[in-house]
Amino acid sequence: DWSMENFIEIEIAKIKEEVGDKKVLCALSGGVDSSVVAALIHAAIGDQLTCMFVDHGLLRKGEAESVMKTFADHFHMNVIKIDAQDRFLNKLKGISDPEQKRKIIGNEFVYVFDEEASKLTDMDFLAQGTLYTDIIESGTDTAQTIKSHHNVGGLPEDMQFKLIEPINTLFKDEVRALGKELGLSDEIVWRQPFPGPGLGIRVLGEITDEKLEIVRESDFILRDEIKKAGLEREIWQYFTVLPPLRSVGVMGDERTYDYAVGIRAVTSIDGMTSDWARIPWDVLEKISVRIVNEVQNVNRVLYDVTSKPPSTIEWE
Ligand code: XMP
Repeated sequence: DWSMENFIEIEIAKIKEEVGDKKVLCALSGGVDSSVVAALIHAAIGDQLTCMFVDHGLLRKGEAESVMKTFADHFHMNVIKIDAQDRFLNKLKGISDPEQKRKIIGNEFVYVFDEEASKLTDMDFLAQGTLYTDIIESGTDTAQTIKSHHNVGGLPEDMQFKLIEPINTLFKDEVRALGKELGLSDEIVWRQPFPGPGLGIRVLGEITDEKLEIVRESDFILRDEIKKAGLEREIWQYFTVLPPLRSVGVMGDERTYDYAVGIRAVTSIDGMTSDWARIPWDVLEKISVRIVNEVQNVNRVLYDVTSKPPSTIEWE
């Protein structure tokens, strides 16, 4: 009968048999699904696995470091980190339309991945963190970069990989249990969904370094306070956004004319619908005070109280 230990044992045997002495490439996003896939395949074939992690410059504060720490330092996996921040930001310069931004980020991801993967001439397999739900409906999964970019343009034809999708019979809660069993930390296993385009769709309109910094720092404070309040698992997704909007405030004796940061926090089962999370007032107060005090160029904090529908979870 079915148990997680059985599943792991059977999957490891399957992967070993399928891969033999060949090599596997895995696109690591830091999200739950790709992390679990990497850990599972590593448990099966060790050094025959190479992970590729693309830093597109639209990640949350500390995210790239945390991925490298976990997979390279702790699990001793082969991880290649691609620093593509400048490439992405240059392509996005002057672009303010949300759909165009998504397309640019998705396409650029494929180019970068293709370019870097073609340098590794001995890879036969590509591992993907496709879930069961991704197969039965068009995916709402967010932790998994390759898939959403797949949707954009697909991997280039000349990448002749065989696909390995070892978690495509599992639901999200089972993937979490599997991750835990494989020794992944709670931080990874319970990571909230994060969209492929990252902070690129949370800076509304044109993306600049200054605006990215505001979202990154305010998001870090929000996450910190939600964690301190013990609300991490109650709220399905929580993040800050930066609308292209400035308003008047006062700091000391001086008039300010600065940005307003929006807080988005929702409860949801699958991201298809959602309600706004009722974060306690005192927690919201701490978040707001810290954001205006600690983040440069912000003098106002807004709380999004709309459900999906009619809103969406992300603002772009
Ligand atoms: P919306 O904003 O459509 O988001 O209500 C629903 C869920 O999907 C995530 N999301 C994305 N995930 N690539 C992804 O991998 C994307 O382009 C993308 N856009 C939205 C969003 O974070 C939420 O969890």
